[in-house]
Amino acid sequence: MALVSIGVAGASGYAGQELIRLAARHPFIRVTTAMASGSTDGARTLPALTGVWDGQITPLSLDQLAAETQAVFMTLPDSVAAEVGPALVARGVRVFDIGGTFRLHDRTLRHQWYPTTPDLEIPVVYGLTEHYRRELVEARLVACPGCYPTAALLALRPLIDANLIDGDVIIDAKSGISGAGKKPSERTHFSECHGNVAAYGVLGHRHGAEIEQELRQTVTFTPHLVPLDRGLLATSYVRVRPDVDDTAIAATFASAYASSPFVRVRGDALPEIKHVVHTNFCDIGWKYDDASRRLVLVSCLDNLVKGAAGQALQNLNVAFGWDETAGLS
Ligand SMILES: NC(=O)c1ccc[n+]([C@@H]2O[C@H](COP(=O)([O-])OP(=O)(O)OC[C@H]3O[C@@H](n4cnc5c(N)ncnc54)[C@H](OP(=O)(O)O)[C@@H]3O)[C@@H](O)[C@H]2O)c1
Repeated sequence: MALVSIGVAGASGYAGQELIRLAARHPFIRVTTAMASGSTDGARTLPALTGVWDGQITPLSLDQLAAETQAVFMTLPDSVAAEVGPALVARGVRVFDIGGTFRLHDRTLRHQWYPTTPDLEIPVVYGLTEHYRRELVEARLVACPGCYPTAALLALRPLIDANLIDGDVIIDAKSGISGAGKKPSERTHFSECHGNVAAYGVLGHRHGAEIEQELRQTVTFTPHLVPLDRGLLATSYVRVRPDVDDTAIAATFASAYASSPFVRVRGDALPEIKHVVHTNFCDIGWKYDDASRRLVLVSCLDNLVKGAAGQALQNLNVAFGWDETAGLS
């Protein structure tokens, strides 16, 4: 089988490098083209990937991507992806966007959170692999979910789909600092975040809108930055309907993820970040109190793998009809 030619736009960033690391070992693809902003003179290499992928990073060029690749992963700032994504699709390239630009379906919400995203004529598939496999087959533009939404949705979506939740959903989530990208800000500078934990975006984070879209109900979502380089843990608090018990909760997760190699259902053995870093797994565990009907769910993943590059590659596998685990196990 001829290898599929892949481009990575945003290759020098955290998610882009992770993508190249994974893609370089994928049996059916070849990274032919890797691009960044061109803010530095000349081509660049990726020292961390020496011996894994020895290509060069060149300045972003639509023409080159369209000429050299069949599919492109975009790990770009939102405003850049908003321009590049539709242009590539129009030129016959399949696009897997890891940013937020195309994730929100509602036009008003999209304009609020991603004002540079144009109105699109082409369908966009929300790439939460485990819940959209059918839609991903033959998809032209895939909006891969963010790291916070992936962890929260994999834990909550089966309960919502089975109509087990009664009332409010509260999501309290903690992310390692690499979730914010490689460029330090006042919030993510080492001396600010080392030895610190801080909530941010309270009652006003764009990932809250994305989670609400996929759960079809309002949620209280509070993200935190914690002093880890990578990894993300979401604790979700819900109350279940009166007729629901622990067995029904366990059966719902077992059935939802029976054919999902990257979701590990842990039951009451609560997952931890150290169990999932550098993997494409999302682990889900829970504790349930029958008397109060309170259910506390814990889900965790590596923000750069299942929360970004790994899930994008998983989506590519499904979109091209390959084994979902190719290049990821
Ligand atoms: N980090 C995560 O855990 C994570 C998880 C899920 C989703 N995401 C999303 O993935 C995307 C990338 O995130 P990241 O953390 O990898 O960011 P990052 O580390 O800041 O990397 C950004 C990349 O985009 C390139 N870039 C910046 N401006 C550009 C321009 N005008 N033209 C072409 N390329 C440009 C950068 O190139 P230079 O090196 O030349 O500046 C770099 O390669 C974002 O949309 C983010 O929301 C990230």
